[in-house]
Amino acid sequence: MRVSLVITIAGSVTVMLTIVVVTLVVTLSPNTGGDKDYREYLLNSIDPNSINKFLRELTSKPHPAGSVRDRDLAVSIQARWEGFGLENVKLMEYDVLLSSPGVPNKFSTLDSGGNVLFESSNTQPPVDDPPPYGQDEILSFNAFSANGIVISDKVVYANYGSEEDFQLLATYNISVSDSIVVIRYGQIFRGDKVRFAEARGANGVILYSDPADVAPEGPSFTYPNSVYAPPGATQLGSLRLQGDLLTPGYPAIESAFRIPMEKADLPKIPVQPVGYHDASVLLRRVKGQVGSQQLTFKEDSTRRGGRPQGHRGAWTLVFCNWAAEEPGIIGSTEFAEQFSVSLKDRAVVYLNVDTLIGGNYSFMAMGVPMLHDIIMDMAQLVANPDKEEVKVGRPTLYDTWLARYPDDSPGGSRPLVLPFGSGSDYRAFMFSLGIPSMDMCFTVAPGEKGLPLYHTAYETYKLNTQLMDQGLLFHQASARMWGLLALEFSTRNFLPFGVVPYVDFISTAWKDFLTTYKKILTNLDVKTEYLKKSVTTLQAAGADFMSRLNDEENPEHVFLAPSVTNGYEWETFPGLRDLLREENPDRRAVQEQIAILTHHFLMAANALTFDLWQ
Ligand SMILES: *[C@@H]1O[C@H](CO)[C@@H](O)[C@H](O)[C@H]1NC(C)=O
Ligand SMILES: *[C@@H]1O[C@H](CO)[C@@H](O)[C@H](O)[C@H]1NC(C)=O
Repeated sequence: MRVSLVITIAGSVTVMLTIVVVTLVVTLSPNTGGDKDYREYLLNSIDPNSINKFLRELTSKPHPAGSVRDRDLAVSIQARWEGFGLENVKLMEYDVLLSSPGVPNKFSTLDSGGNVLFESSNTQPPVDDPPPYGQDEILSFNAFSANGIVISDKVVYANYGSEEDFQLLATYNISVSDSIVVIRYGQIFRGDKVRFAEARGANGVILYSDPADVAPEGPSFTYPNSVYAPPGATQLGSLRLQGDLLTPGYPAIESAFRIPMEKADLPKIPVQPVGYHDASVLLRRVKGQVGSQQLTFKEDSTRRGGRPQGHRGAWTLVFCNWAAEEPGIIGSTEFAEQFSVSLKDRAVVYLNVDTLIGGNYSFMAMGVPMLHDIIMDMAQLVANPDKEEVKVGRPTLYDTWLARYPDDSPGGSRPLVLPFGSGSDYRAFMFSLGIPSMDMCFTVAPGEKGLPLYHTAYETYKLNTQLMDQGLLFHQASARMWGLLALEFSTRNFLPFGVVPYVDFISTAWKDFLTTYKKILTNLDVKTEYLKKSVTTLQAAGADFMSRLNDEENPEHVFLAPSVTNGYEWETFPGLRDLLREENPDRRAVQEQIAILTHHFLMAANALTFDLWQ
């Protein structure tokens, strides 16, 4: 069979992006961490009707990154936040590379004379009556695909396009070189599928959504009757995730130096996404390949320290509304690059919400182990949005999470928390800046594929409010979780970091790592004893640290404290003064205070020196 793949990307042009940022100085008194009144106030203030109003406005028209509509929304969010009484709401602008689809973007099958037998669709047919505004303008493309026409007699099916899939093809001596590779969505990031195919010499890639993954109940029980994907549903999405491709490592502000397009990390081959109707035409004709090239409707069997701070006073809370997450995590990356030094120094945690509802079966959190404890504590304070679950005696988010997603690792009696990679706006904060980060969502049952309509034209307001979250109670619960966490992190004296879970995680990861690599390491004759010892030392230090913290619930500033004689003033050397005010000062206690102060001053001096150790 001969297949032609024609891709026109209208522009990879730089476009102004606008993101909204507001800095809110929390003015709660510094000792209110976990204060009941503030929590109650927050929990009671979150209204599903107003969430519904915002959601309807945000989804009323398509607003691709860089579009006028996207900017208008940013401006309206700014106005809205100012209306809430937030001060200092800023629009930040970045001039970044985005790509937009041209016409046609399609594949065709050709007979031996070059006549077209079949042509794929470039849009997704309306299935709602009436279709949502602007749905017909959504053209199927993958951002940053190369432009071009590829004609090939060689079409190779590569399953999910993972390294293992390509290796399997290689063991059967099936080369993807000079061919068009057909790959189903799922399991790994789409950009990696394309990278792997390109590295092996493929000329083009066709990505499709497999009905086994997105329509397990068959093609008739699909949207708008269910959350599953109809035959034309096509997953769009970017092939890159690292922020603006012309200013790597730097913010795309006016003064930025931009690398030439040919130096940018862009895919060099054309890529086209299609729905399973179109893919089936293609795959019926692919012969002699490994793996299931049949599109089936069967369920797929594969399953699926920070330091505690002694600072008094309020933390600063910053709300961010990012632009251009879809084209490649661009708005958040540029922001993180622009303010990297301040963020590294001042940001203590990054709370993300991306896909709020991938399913409504259970709450799920993803994040670093340092944050597990606080997430679980807060989930116990949020009312369960699932009424059936409340009826069977599970009144909170936490209860359903624990019942439906228990952590089945040894000794686990807590809910599962998933790790995360680079697929959302936490990427730069977590991995480039090292700020403890988390994401949260509601998800499907174990074994089900989350959000079958992901990135298709059918990911609509109706899907959210009629098929997945009637009454928007899951939306409300999510806002409550986010709000409680923000409150905890901005009001506690001690940041609620779980040092012990983190060091335990490192220790377990080290053991798992050794299980996998011990043999290779032994063969290489490299020494791991010191690393092993450092992990043990770290684990012991973590436990010790926490036990001391618990002893000193309210640590004091060693040098400055409010005067006991006049609350408007401070006092220097407060501990020492307190002791010396006593009638018979204890010599040893005084000597101890002196030693403590000496130690703190030396540490401060050390922090200010250019020599490492002084
Ligand atoms: C793959 O090709 C090599 C070299 O041509 C040959 O030795 C080997 O038997 C082939 N393997 C299979 C599974 O056909
Ligand atoms: C939860 O999702 C299912 C579809 O997966 C839907 O049938 C059900 O109505 C949803 N529940 C709510 C409360 O919206």
